[in-house]
Amino acid sequence: TDPALIRNFCIIAHIDHGKSTLADRMLQITGAVEDRQMRAQYLDRMDIERERGITIKSQAVRIPFTALDDKTYTLDLIDTPGHVDFTYEVSRSLAACEGAILLVDAAQGIEAQTLANLYMALENDLAIIPVLNKIDLPAAQPEKYAEEIAGIIGCEPSDVLKVSAKTGEGVEELLNEIVRQIPAPVGEADAPARAMIFDSVYDTYRGVVTYVRIVDGRLSPRERIQMMSTKASHEILEIGVSSPEPVKCDGLGVGEVGYIITGVKDVRQSKVGDTITSLADPATKMLAGYQEPKPMVFSGLYPIEGTDYPVLRDALDKLQLNDAALVFEPETSAALGFGFRCGFLGLLHLEITRARLEREFNLDLISTAPNVIYRVEMEDGTEHTVTNPSEFPTGKIASIHEPVVKATVLSPSDYVGQIMELCQDRRGSLQGMDYLSEDRVEMRYTLPMAEIVFDFFDHLKSRTKGYASLDYELSGEQESDLVKVDILLQGEAVDAFSAIVHKDKAYAYGVEMTKKLRELIPRQQFEVPVQAAIGARVIARENIRAIRKDVLAKCYGGDISRKRKLLEKQKEGKKRMKMVGRVEVPQEAFISALSTD
Ligand code: GTP
Repeated sequence: TDPALIRNFCIIAHIDHGKSTLADRMLQITGAVEDRQMRAQYLDRMDIERERGITIKSQAVRIPFTALDDKTYTLDLIDTPGHVDFTYEVSRSLAACEGAILLVDAAQGIEAQTLANLYMALENDLAIIPVLNKIDLPAAQPEKYAEEIAGIIGCEPSDVLKVSAKTGEGVEELLNEIVRQIPAPVGEADAPARAMIFDSVYDTYRGVVTYVRIVDGRLSPRERIQMMSTKASHEILEIGVSSPEPVKCDGLGVGEVGYIITGVKDVRQSKVGDTITSLADPATKMLAGYQEPKPMVFSGLYPIEGTDYPVLRDALDKLQLNDAALVFEPETSAALGFGFRCGFLGLLHLEITRARLEREFNLDLISTAPNVIYRVEMEDGTEHTVTNPSEFPTGKIASIHEPVVKATVLSPSDYVGQIMELCQDRRGSLQGMDYLSEDRVEMRYTLPMAEIVFDFFDHLKSRTKGYASLDYELSGEQESDLVKVDILLQGEAVDAFSAIVHKDKAYAYGVEMTKKLRELIPRQQFEVPVQAAIGARVIARENIRAIRKDVLAKCYGGDISRKRKLLEKQKEGKKRMKMVGRVEVPQEAFISALSTD
């Protein structure tokens, strides 16, 4: 294809603002998909994505379009993931494009996530086409929001296109604007091949399908290629384009977007952001922007049924084939048995992984409270990286460092007070505040990552009646006054309940956990103290009082078979009990104490 006739673009939109619907409508209007084959939401493939209404993996689709100048263009729509956990993947999809549609719900206005991705697109020098969607809605306020968008990107309100992805109104004009406003790709056709991987998906039948954007040169079937970050080499078994079903072709040239299959079985061999070159004629310089995926949030995952452990291990292996950011290693807990310490990009990534394990592999799981990575410097000069409270060092600590994020909150201005209160409570510090329009405000905070990964978003939503939106990015680390709080049953620490918390919050955590456990753990034959402690210092205590009556006393003098039955029954019950020292704790107590809801 002549690069002059190619347009590579993506859609930047907040969840639910209509990205998938617009993509579908484009496919339909241009005839890329016949009406009867049209199934709603062509781009989202995974069930969980669809259910949760979020797009996780980006994919590309080729749309042939005959523009007003009667030339037929190749429009490549690159789908971007829509959640903060996947910022790096968004940045790679943006890097594969020359332009972006900024799609905003005409009844909602722009959201923090969209704004963050918009800034990223501007940094990448993408041409931006502002579009208001859902103008068919009675609640739409296109004039108001056109004004807001114009203020943000510095265009005229009249430059903002107005469409309805649902009815198709304005979509043809939009396609023409894509051809007119977005630059054609430029690259050197005769240079050694360089292709950027912007997505990589594991497919049970075809192995890893790698989505690429050719920057320079050409890639062809049967050619041997090299991954520039790892130097690993593979042979291209198949190369093609998604239109939107995969269609083989005899190669991809400058500016083209498509997929390649090499037979590798694991996405970690074909990493997002990496540069592919030809083995015979390699390029010398990688394309900029490659990063190793880096897990930021850690949690222990344990099967509720101990016998499911091997199933869990296989399931994690399988998920990892498709998820280069998921890491795990075996871990044992006195309370929960055998499980895995898993690392995730963020809380959503954790939730999605857990949901997939439970659903696709039919597992029942407990997850321990998520924590971030801490760096602990000791007085003797050594340093520890802590991803699990149980690894928290015991010697003389010089300083503890925790990751911090830059967070942006967009909200109606009525809620400024509530948001400030929440951020303050989460150890945030306000960095700046701007009014986007009369009644909408952008607030910028730095916050410890540990304070946001847990339930920050839920609290933000409930305090603002769902109106506020949040975006954050990692921004280094800070030294903090952190301590490890242990929870002890009869003097014995229960590993699954240990947590690293800020000193000011240690007491509250201790009181909450000891209270919960007193209620959840049944009485034993003896009194059981439940304590929270920092090192050797106890900060909270509850008692589970001893059972007064011996159960067997009831049977005194009764017939022996009844007595035996009672003992049998107790034994059954004991199977689901875990022993912590001499204390019997029902599995359910651990599960309820660890659940957040
Ligand atoms: P993610 O894939 O989760 O990022 O969401 P999305 O941005 O792709 O949104 P989606 O296309 O799923 O649309 C969200 C909802 O808005 C759906 O219920 C759509 O039917 C509806 N919707 C999309 N476009 C329009 C429109 O132009 N008018 C109206 N009335 N509804 C629309």
